Amino acid sequence: MIENAAIKAILARRSIRRYENKPVEREKIDAILACAAAAPSANNFRPWHFIEVTDRKTLNALSDAHPYGKMLDESPLAVVVCAATEKFKTPDVWWEQDCGAAIQNILVAATALGLGSVWLGVHHSPNGLPDKIRAILGIPPHIQVAAIVAVGYGAETKPPYEAPDPALTHQGRW
Ligand SMILES: Cc1cc2nc3c(=O)[nH]c(=O)nc-3n(C[C@H](O)[C@H](O)[C@H](O)COP(=O)(O)O)c2cc1C
Repeated sequence: MIENAAIKAILARRSIRRYENKPVEREKIDAILACAAAAPSANNFRPWHFIEVTDRKTLNALSDAHPYGKMLDESPLAVVVCAATEKFKTPDVWWEQDCGAAIQNILVAATALGLGSVWLGVHHSPNGLPDKIRAILGIPPHIQVAAIVAVGYGAETKPPYEAPDPALTHQGRW
């Protein structure tokens, strides 16, 4: 594989769900948020809002609320990715893809900075999960909650990805 720092971070990104008891430095949080907001956006509407959460009680409340987000009771940081969607006309749901791009930037930036992270889906989750997250964080009802990203210094390691399964790549046509 070609030697390149960006390619290395993309391939090394894995879902890390165990973390050291160590805060994430301010400059790393700032870099992660800058990368999040640098994502591409349909019509360049840039609908995203990012809530940085480092308060332990709030992280524990998010952990309690999210059925598959229990690692939030260990992670020192969560970035909650939201979207102000008023510019998007129903049934235009491009904002979901905008937020997906921002989330991926967060994950790759975290990896490049030596941090572990995991994407926790919220939008489309059953049992009123988006409203539960809204209530914990004071998010207004008209703001969509796309996902939570748990971030911290990893306490587990996973191998990087390599070349894709050849059955998944097509040359010229399907
Ligand atoms: C839309 C979406 C929602 C996800 N939600 C969760 C989740 O709620 N909890 C979790 O532990 N992982 C979640 N993941 C992470 C996936 O489980 C993970 O990406 C997948 O198992 C592949 O592993 P990898 O990230 O190490 O490549 C989510 C990923 C995506 C893209």
